[in-house]
Amino acid sequence: MSKTVLVTGGTRGIGRAISETMVKKGYKVAANYAGNDAAAKECADALGINVYKFDVADYDAVGAGLAQIAKDLGPVDVVINNAGVTRDAPFHKMTKDQWQQVIDIDLTSAFNVTRQVWDGMRERGWGRVINISSINGQKGQFGQANYSAAKAGLIGFTKALAQEGAKKGVTVNVVCPGYIDTEMVQAVPEKVLEGIIATIPVGRLGKAEEIASMCAYLASDEAAFITGATMTVNGAQYIAG
Ligand code: CAA
Repeated sequence: MSKTVLVTGGTRGIGRAISETMVKKGYKVAANYAGNDAAAKECADALGINVYKFDVADYDAVGAGLAQIAKDLGPVDVVINNAGVTRDAPFHKMTKDQWQQVIDIDLTSAFNVTRQVWDGMRERGWGRVINISSINGQKGQFGQANYSAAKAGLIGFTKALAQEGAKKGVTVNVVCPGYIDTEMVQAVPEKVLEGIIATIPVGRLGKAEEIASMCAYLASDEAAFITGATMTVNGAQYIAG
């Protein structure tokens, strides 16, 4: 029987590419989204999947969303914690709201979702948790004290949880995309983005599908011995030790 995968922020950007790849691999895909109904409808129609609108920063809303997914598709076997936002500003201009929104949506969301699928994965003796971090969680980025903190937090979360899931057949890994050609990256001021691309040895932005294929591999049975790993996919822009 095919497995159920939840992709948070799964209707746009990297998340949408992950949803599409997982459909092609034969999974039952639930794509979560927060606000953009038009993009969600387009995604649902194009991929033939169910989309679920709930706020990943709200623990109870996540619980309700997961209950609906379980009813429609069965319990979640693979969770891809992808939802995230940026609120870039140099630290001397960063507001409490800009800090808190990024921590809540990019980091606390991973607790909210994973905590509520974790017991089921342990009971069934199989599960995959894949967290989407960022190159900027590995190296830090000017203007992103909030985002770099949240994304680095996902790496620590992964390393701790992998040790807890190991004996129960639940793997936990983190993917660190570099600069990928999505709306989020295209929102970086043009001149700044040109400067960033100049530092990518491969000489281009990454493609969302290049992150999705890594996620599909980590979700597979073949990847059972990979857990607690940080998978860097960034065109050699930053080579972590
Ligand atoms: N390193 C050093 N100094 C920098 C800098 C950098 N990378 N970027 C800007 N500065 C300096 C500027 O030169 C300027 O210095 P002066 O005052 O001496 O001229 C000062 O910082 C202020 O710069 P700005 O006037 O541009 O400040 P701003 O408030 O308008 O904007 C910013 C600052 C929002 C951080 C803007 O530079 C920016 O958007 N940077 C890009 C940040 C980034 O890479 N975000 C990634 C988004 S995509 C993503 O996050 C996905 C992913 O996972 C990769």
